[in-house]
Amino acid sequence: MPGIRNFTLVIRGERRERDPSMTATSSAIGGRLNRDSDDLLVVEDLKTHFEVPAGMVKAVDGVSFSLGRGRTLGVVGESGSGKTVLSRTLMNLNLGSNVHSSGSAIFEGRQLVGVKPKQLRDLWGLDIAMVFQDPMTSLNPVVKVGRQVTEHIRKHLGVSKAEARETAIQLLRSVRIPEAESRFEAYPHELSGGMRQRVSIAIALACGPKLLLADEPTTALDVTVQHQILNLLAQQRRERNMAMVLVTHDLGVVAGRTDEIAVMYAGRIVEKASTKVLFSDVRHPYTEALLRSIPKTSNRNHTRLAAIAGRPPDLINPPSGCKFSPRCPYAQPKCFEEEPPEVNAFEDHLFSCHYPVGTEENKAAWDRNLAAGRPETVAVATGSVSEVDIRAKGEEILADLTTSEGAD
Ligand SMILES: Nc1ncnc2c1ncn2[C@@H]1O[C@H](COP(=O)(O)OP(=O)(O)OP(=O)(O)O)[C@@H](O)[C@H]1O
Ligand code: SF4
Ligand SMILES: [Mg+2]
Repeated sequence: MPGIRNFTLVIRGERRERDPSMTATSSAIGGRLNRDSDDLLVVEDLKTHFEVPAGMVKAVDGVSFSLGRGRTLGVVGESGSGKTVLSRTLMNLNLGSNVHSSGSAIFEGRQLVGVKPKQLRDLWGLDIAMVFQDPMTSLNPVVKVGRQVTEHIRKHLGVSKAEARETAIQLLRSVRIPEAESRFEAYPHELSGGMRQRVSIAIALACGPKLLLADEPTTALDVTVQHQILNLLAQQRRERNMAMVLVTHDLGVVAGRTDEIAVMYAGRIVEKASTKVLFSDVRHPYTEALLRSIPKTSNRNHTRLAAIAGRPPDLINPPSGCKFSPRCPYAQPKCFEEEPPEVNAFEDHLFSCHYPVGTEENKAAWDRNLAAGRPETVAVATGSVSEVDIRAKGEEILADLTTSEGAD
């Protein structure tokens, strides 16, 4: 098969020959994972490009995944990797004549891509809702929070004013806003950042959506409040059997809170697996670098963060071959020439790399680069957490966050 060599995978200390079913395809990662009739959302080769004077910004460049009812997908990547554009594309919120979207996103049999926003208005809020990073951008600063919740309820559910008020107060209580009746009369600026985010979550949940897109819902909040909001979202998701796409730049945020994780780089998903597999058996060097940069939650103040060397790629003129090649400690000549194909390994673990972490070829690539003094390799080596430590660290972080999930 062109572009892919046989290799031996090392999985949790065990050495296994490549599975015969392991396949390489030219399509983007993720389309086949957990695909079944219960899929709520099926995304295929989704692209959103923006035409700007300097050229075409390929913000989302061939993303595929599917999401089952009640499941949570974490979408993780550095700033500029296309996470928000992906969420906004699913909500049909990227408007303007310079926006070029293609591919497909089918939600319960309805196409979301390439249709006029007014054709989807009945889906927004009712079936698909979104929570944004900064609640101040989604809340109206001059309208009392209670009215913002009731307006949403009345618009979508057509209930009386009194019923809407009663429902709104119950919703505010369900997102654990203390003294919900008095907070009903408050303006957004009178609430803390965490309370404002709870209000925007209440609005998003008001009509019982089947899918919630949460785009960095806790980035603007301090660490303690972050945990509370993430736990609130997880609790609401469970109680409502709602599917969720949780977007974040922090791999630590999605550990223990998602069923699957998709790692985005330069507008594409480069690795996707169940959360447990991704943390214990990382394959893509970019995911490994993200993992290395997570501080241990029990010791956040004392853990040195390893930043990923180099800058995210130019999305107008991305590097040829693998887009991570200029920053990758394992990069070999082939990486600069050939885009790696998608590989489907064990347990529906998908990744796109010529020299996946944990293989003999990866180790040889590391040794060659280290001997040659490749700066990106030396930087990691002198950082340094060894590959074995990375795996142990993944499992440790997962266990750490899983046990802290219940705390609010
Ligand atoms: N309307 C637009 N016109 C041109 N380029 C855009 C537009 N919106 C987003 N982009 C570009 O698309 C790329 C992806 O942006 P996006 O906001 O999705 O990143 P992100 O992964 O959400 O980052 P962050 O973690 O900082 O929120 C960026 O390079 C951004 O500058
Ligand atoms: S080893 Fe090569 S293909 Fe894999 S991420 Fe690094 S540069 Fe890309
Ligand atoms: Mg964003």
